[in-house]
Amino acid sequence: MTNILLVTSSPRGPQSLSTRFAREIAESLNARSGHAIIERDLGAAPLPHITAAYIDGRIALPETRTVEQIEAVDLAQSLVDEVLSADVIVIGSGMINFGPPTQLKAWFDYITWPGVTFRYGTTGPMGLLPNKKVYLVTATGGVFSEGANAPFDFQTAYLTHLLGFIGLTDIEVIRVEGTLISPDAAKVAIASTETTIRAALERAA
Ligand SMILES: Cc1cc2nc3c(=O)[nH]c(=O)nc-3n(C[C@H](O)[C@H](O)[C@H](O)COP(=O)(O)O)c2cc1C
Repeated sequence: MTNILLVTSSPRGPQSLSTRFAREIAESLNARSGHAIIERDLGAAPLPHITAAYIDGRIALPETRTVEQIEAVDLAQSLVDEVLSADVIVIGSGMINFGPPTQLKAWFDYITWPGVTFRYGTTGPMGLLPNKKVYLVTATGGVFSEGANAPFDFQTAYLTHLLGFIGLTDIEVIRVEGTLISPDAAKVAIASTETTIRAALERAA
């Protein structure tokens, strides 16, 4: 079965631009292929932050795990299984204080799992997930693709690094940026993102 995994993470609900455009991509892919969309809405249903139950539980022998450890490891496994079951992953991330929302960071903290999604080999770290296409939609109030703010785009740098770290290197970044500069700038930014998405989907056809 081929699936499209849609991971959204904005805490801004229906106002979110990263959610809007990530959903648009997932729904276009679904309309074209008929492949099911699996939704992981981290904004509406945030994951608990990882605790010792997960960190200790994932290295404990399964038969020795406490109830809390079993719950934490089972949650992580279900999130990894969602990623494994997808052929394409679409992620929406709206910048909060120069990085991704904490809701998305929490998701990565579960799925970035030694021995399961990455391992250290003789030549350094190695991603263990089978590579698949990732559309990463980043929304930012300022402009980060160029200019004075570019070195501070920790969101895109962090997310692309982490995806690659676990084996997902085929990443297409779609930006919606500069939306808080002025209402006119927001209109231009949104139109530009629509054009970028159309071109990305045409390339994928
Ligand atoms: C709490 C908060 C912090 C933000 N921090 C930044 C920031 O550091 N840099 C920036 O360019 N925009 C920042 N913004 C603006 C958001 O990145 C922008 O509104 C974006 O569209 C949010 O993504 P979303 O529309 O998917 O929710 C911030 C917004 C909020 C609410």
